[in-house]
Amino acid sequence: MSIAVIGTGYVGLVSAACFAELGHEVIAVDTDSAKLKMLCDGQVPIYEEHLPELIARHRGSRLWFSSDTRNACEQSDVIFICVGTPLSNTGEADLSFVEEVARELAQSLDRHKVIVEKSTVPVGTGDAVYRTMLLHGASPADFSIASNPEFLREGTAVMDFLYPDRILMGVSDKHSLKVLSEIYKPILDGSYRKWPGALVPDSQLREATPIIASVKSAEMIKHASNAFLALKISFINSVANLCERVGADVREVALGMGTDSRIGQRFLNPGIGYGGSCFPKDVLAFRSLAASVGYDFGILTQVMAVNEHQKRHFVAKVRRAVWTLRGKKLGVLGLAFKGGTDDCRESPAIDIVRRLRAEGAEIVAYDPVAMQRARAILGDDSIGFAQDAYEVCNGAHALLILTEWPEFAMMDWRRVRELLKLPIVLDGRNLLDLDAVETAGLRYCGVGTCPETAFLEPVRHMGNMRLVSMGVSGNSANEGAQPVPVS
Ligand code: UDX
Repeated sequence: MSIAVIGTGYVGLVSAACFAELGHEVIAVDTDSAKLKMLCDGQVPIYEEHLPELIARHRGSRLWFSSDTRNACEQSDVIFICVGTPLSNTGEADLSFVEEVARELAQSLDRHKVIVEKSTVPVGTGDAVYRTMLLHGASPADFSIASNPEFLREGTAVMDFLYPDRILMGVSDKHSLKVLSEIYKPILDGSYRKWPGALVPDSQLREATPIIASVKSAEMIKHASNAFLALKISFINSVANLCERVGADVREVALGMGTDSRIGQRFLNPGIGYGGSCFPKDVLAFRSLAASVGYDFGILTQVMAVNEHQKRHFVAKVRRAVWTLRGKKLGVLGLAFKGGTDDCRESPAIDIVRRLRAEGAEIVAYDPVAMQRARAILGDDSIGFAQDAYEVCNGAHALLILTEWPEFAMMDWRRVRELLKLPIVLDGRNLLDLDAVETAGLRYCGVGTCPETAFLEPVRHMGNMRLVSMGVSGNSANEGAQPVPVS
């Protein structure tokens, strides 16, 4: 198949490289000349496992980069629209990039094409693309509209693409279904994994289920899936908050809940809230879509409220642990919105760093791959950036884990203890092994694993510092209550 992929963001670039890996001829189009130059020079603009390998493997033989949408369209049978759908200031998805592509495609049809939406778009976008193309001169006989949303996660995007749970084909006619089935054939029939040089996951091989639906249902499945996963995270975060008040351990609770196959283990990790380029945007856009047709999707309002609370709650925990924040030095491990990526968009770690800075704390942070992007967001002067994870600990009043990079879990905790000014570790991702940390003489507090008042317990020795209780009972009115250091 000859394929044009319009837009080389996360979804577009990964899709283009993976289509080439599946044996198709691919032209990836973007209007960002700096990015195109990088790609043409063999550089990869994002940190994504296996992506550099695939691009190097196929660039110039089956994978080309171009700024010319019209030419790419003329040379292709199928066009995937992968442009951004950012949030507008009304909370809806801004579809102006999609519309622009539709207009251009309308004028570039030289034979029948299948136009496939891959960006996450609100239900009804397929119809809008169809109408726009007709309005700009395309004949209905010359194109079909399909929707083929992508479910890849940053950090594992290539493997998610090549070994998906399902391949969703939202189609308006038999031809589009035939074309999409042909494109994904090596994944659907399991042949790809047997090809020489194929990327094969370490974990158990999954069978991809084909899901055939209408275009509208496919659009809905994508938004509803992301909203549901966000809901699952907010639910377990609420359970974690409750665990902190009643003395249960959310890790045991999540395990117990998740072994029910109707619930499942995945996406039951509590933390500092979900972030990234998808969940925050998609939950809002999904709620806006519902509102636009007169339906109040109130549960999504709660999902967002819990997510916001999670960040405030973590900052309150830091405050409780070190008392006042002004002038305190805090070591931060992790800035990306999750482990495995350099993406800092809507990162809860960045949000928490900003809140702590606003209260006068001095921050020194380290992230194995996201420092450049974090610096661009936070600015050079607002926080210090360390060379490694240990430098962060040097003289810090507390160590905060804000992104779940595996290397943070394997630190030498005795060394950390020697470097820290106070023996306090607050783990926003439940990444660390409690025993390893506490054996080194550190006090540890995760999310939903210890009482809210963990750092306020009656007279407890913490290195050279003693804390006395202020009689805090652990209700929300005491969110900001502080321990009193005594000599
Ligand atoms: C998500 C969807 O998973 C993917 O299907 C869709 O195509 C794009 O959006 P991504 O944004 O890459 O992918 O990240 P994901 O792994 O889903 O995590 C999103 C956020 O939720 C992160 O901030 C992560 O730390 C958080 N999260 C995830 C939790 O807090 N707990 C969990 O159990 C899982």
